[in-house]
Amino acid sequence: MIEKPVRVAVLVSGGGTNLQSLLDALHDSTIARIARVISNRPDAGAIARARRAAVPTTVLRDPNDANELLAALQGMQLVVLAGYLKLVPPPVVSQFRGRMINIHPALLPDFGGPGMYGLRVHAAVLASGATESGATVHFVDEAFDRGAIIAQERVPVKQGDSPETLAARVLEAEHRLLPKVVLQLAKELA
Ligand code: GRF
Repeated sequence: MIEKPVRVAVLVSGGGTNLQSLLDALHDSTIARIARVISNRPDAGAIARARRAAVPTTVLRDPNDANELLAALQGMQLVVLAGYLKLVPPPVVSQFRGRMINIHPALLPDFGGPGMYGLRVHAAVLASGATESGATVHFVDEAFDRGAIIAQERVPVKQGDSPETLAARVLEAEHRLLPKVVLQLAKELA
């Protein structure tokens, strides 16, 4: 029996709009709360968002150091990668297997893998002629974007879309999908 609310750690590298959607959705939740935000970049906008929300933060000296990351994750029950661009060291993946998730701005298994992040993903979707894109939440394993898919939300690719306009439409779907999945998993852990 794990006492509520479930303690969630969020790993970030960028501006943190997905983190913000979690902070807003879990603001007064009894099911889950953001207990720590961890980044490989001290200047990540997400770190500033966490500090504004009075959530403890950790900036990793070496994101490849499993012991440093395990120490930062001490006491956490669920780990969310939200715009975290580093590969998670295998000892950390195994410690949190089935309790570590990532959000990706495309319909995996397509348009994922090493180097597939940011506008590159959306440029690849447009170049492929796909009529749909979307957001994917999946479990994290030892490779980028390969773990079992938990949930997806689809959005249309519109005539005249640029990587920027498609990215904005997908990001809105991400902000709806990620809090839903985190709450669902937290209920299962509780
Ligand atoms: C999101 O599109 C996410 O899917 C991807 O990186 C981006 C991060 O955006 N992995 P933000 O930092 O949450 O605004």
